[in-house]
Amino acid sequence: MKVSKRGSVSPFLVMEALSRANAYIAEHNAEVVHLSLGQPGKGVPARVAEKLRDLVMNDKLGYTEGSGMLELRKRIAQHYRETYGVDVSWERIFITVGSSSAFFLSLIAAFDAGDRVALVQPCYPAYRNMLIAHDLEPVLLRGTFENNFQPTVAMLEALDTPIDGLIIASPSNPTGTVLPEKEMRAIVKYCEANNIRIISDEIYHGMPYNAKTATALSMSDSAIVVNSFSKYFLMAGWRLGWVVAPADLARSYESLVQHFFVSPPALAQHAALEVFNCKDELDSTVAEYAQNRAIMLEALPKIGFSHICPAEGAFYIYANVSDLTDNSADFCEEMLRGAGVVGVSGHDFDTEQGDAYVRLSYSGTRADIENAMARLKGWLDTRQPKARKAS
Ligand SMILES: Cc1ncc(COP(=O)(O)O)c(C=O)c1O
Repeated sequence: MKVSKRGSVSPFLVMEALSRANAYIAEHNAEVVHLSLGQPGKGVPARVAEKLRDLVMNDKLGYTEGSGMLELRKRIAQHYRETYGVDVSWERIFITVGSSSAFFLSLIAAFDAGDRVALVQPCYPAYRNMLIAHDLEPVLLRGTFENNFQPTVAMLEALDTPIDGLIIASPSNPTGTVLPEKEMRAIVKYCEANNIRIISDEIYHGMPYNAKTATALSMSDSAIVVNSFSKYFLMAGWRLGWVVAPADLARSYESLVQHFFVSPPALAQHAALEVFNCKDELDSTVAEYAQNRAIMLEALPKIGFSHICPAEGAFYIYANVSDLTDNSADFCEEMLRGAGVVGVSGHDFDTEQGDAYVRLSYSGTRADIENAMARLKGWLDTRQPKARKAS
């Protein structure tokens, strides 16, 4: 039987590595610290759960409108006014099943099979794999320390063949780097002039440190802006996100969501409405991330992680460990066994240079972060120099 090439994407190795780590932990009854989390270390504030208890008992919680509850779409429009001073009509806002399905819909709404979409590596691996699954061609741009692991106009100008789309992510996963507003504007302007559709992943907005995150909505009416309740809003498992569609694509989204998803999850949408009233708790969680980040940025270079990407946002530190290993997956395994600390190898995020990098997350508790730093120090202090470079 025929098997589609579109479905033959590589697995999310992080998930597999975590399963292996969990098997090791269970087998050895090991007590470990996770610096591998790609989600907040805590759940929604208690008042959200309280609000929902009543609904679960008394509401039939059927399907909602395919594009999402009107009240929530309007609340998100208000969020853009309050946070960025940008006016956007609620009719352009579509509630989705996490931002993941916003990407899925966007790639269908904006591109045709064979179109070329550029993105910087290292990047969130689903971008590359979703492009492949949609029969689109990923055009990989090289992220480096010099370009802050973000795209530049010069990179786009240097391409031999025209592109149809560009995915940007600021703050980025895995690097945590932020695209400064001036450069983002220059990129958006270049894309508008060259008919390139931008998809701006703004899922880590709300958590910048000494940096400012700008929304592509304030720069262009043709950009697609994707966001989520999974990170700042502490609702990863509720599977809710949104997309702000350009007017020329809005009708496509409206029809596509109905056919693919019928409606976004009702309970999660009610939770999202309430979580907008919990800004103090959400911001105090970001303040905790900021403390954790400061602890790690102070400790890691002293321990031996000397090349760290500018950690300007999200809750990740992406470190070049090529001084310590030739294979970051082996290094993570060794770190688990030697220090009891779980990190994530760069393999998923970067098909070319992932061997040289690890991603460490600081979304856990302060106690976890301090414990992890002490363990890493103890381990690296005694690690044999000859073990430092695996063959
Ligand atoms: C950069 C980035 N974009 C999108 C997603 C997808 O998140 P969700 O579907 O939970 O909104 C993630 C998840 O970790 C991410 O890191």
